[in-house]
Amino acid sequence: MRVEELDSPTLTIDLDALDENLDRYQRYYTEHGIGLRPHIKTHKTLAIAAMQMAKGAIGLTCQKVGEAEVMVSGGLAVDILIPFNIIGKPKLERLMALATQTRLTVAADSAYTVRGLAEAAEAAGVTLSVIVEVECGMNRTGVQTPQEATELAKLIDKSKGLELRGFMGYPTPPASRPIIQETVALFDKAGLSREIVSGGSTRYAFEAHQIPELTEYRIGEYPTGGEGHLRAGRHTVEQCSLRVQATVISKPTADRVILDSGSKTMSASVFQAPHGPSMGYLVEYPDARFYSSSEEHGHVDVSACAKKPEIGERVQVLPVHPCPCVNEHDAIVAVRKGVVEAVWPVYARGKIR
Ligand SMILES: Cc1ncc(COP(=O)(O)O)c(C=O)c1O
Repeated sequence: MRVEELDSPTLTIDLDALDENLDRYQRYYTEHGIGLRPHIKTHKTLAIAAMQMAKGAIGLTCQKVGEAEVMVSGGLAVDILIPFNIIGKPKLERLMALATQTRLTVAADSAYTVRGLAEAAEAAGVTLSVIVEVECGMNRTGVQTPQEATELAKLIDKSKGLELRGFMGYPTPPASRPIIQETVALFDKAGLSREIVSGGSTRYAFEAHQIPELTEYRIGEYPTGGEGHLRAGRHTVEQCSLRVQATVISKPTADRVILDSGSKTMSASVFQAPHGPSMGYLVEYPDARFYSSSEEHGHVDVSACAKKPEIGERVQVLPVHPCPCVNEHDAIVAVRKGVVEAVWPVYARGKIR
């Protein structure tokens, strides 16, 4: 079947572009001796995770326990990092069950999290690996200073049931190196293990070597790209492998077309493009502006297009943010040179716990 014959809206991934993205990034990390630990929260599929492992990834990153459960039950019982504070009995019990099935490491940024992990690990009779998250500039989670990171690491180190493996930051632009260097120095002085020094984010992916202290790197969006990466010059249109196949369903005015793809297809993410807010990039109409959406309608201003799309026409739209877009779909259709090769269920879709 050809891609044009698929019903719309459908989420597709171009296999040649996907393959090239996976190779390009893996090559960089291999060349620089940094372990690549892809973040599966972007694609949420077993097939792409398996491809990432086959190309040389050292393990996977999963943001939620539920995502890790999907990977392990799908046969990817590999070295998994969950860079998230796991709090509360229901999740801790699932985490411990998972720790008996695969090599599992979680992050913590408080004594509260560490105590919960330690009690659950002891009760379950497992040894759980833990890394400390240190603030590197995002102002999200993370202890605020290298000194605090060291204190928390000492607590992990002496907690029964836990094994300290190092520390992480997110994101880790080159400007965050002083924090990482200081944390390394303090860990070393205290004799604390730091076999993992983990950085992350696609935005700074090719600058990771400027922080030689990093042992590994977490990236999610590199296989797919998206409008943000396109406009920042990190991916070309061809390298943006993930596309929504959409149909023009209405042309209420000469300058406005409506797609069958609104926020329940694209996600509600908005990108601040040079021309204003954008909810997607129309590959065939680069001058069009996908400026708004309702749940099932995509609102596109085509006033700047020399040739305008017509009702019934199929267009390909790059999502602005691939991760929540994938989360809206049951499946990703894998396509090569316009021909459907496979349908990949998005098994980790909606795994927010
Ligand atoms: C903790 C953590 N690590 C790594 C990543 C991957 O970053 P990116 O989506 O830029 O590839 C994310 C993304 O949200 C994250 O939250």
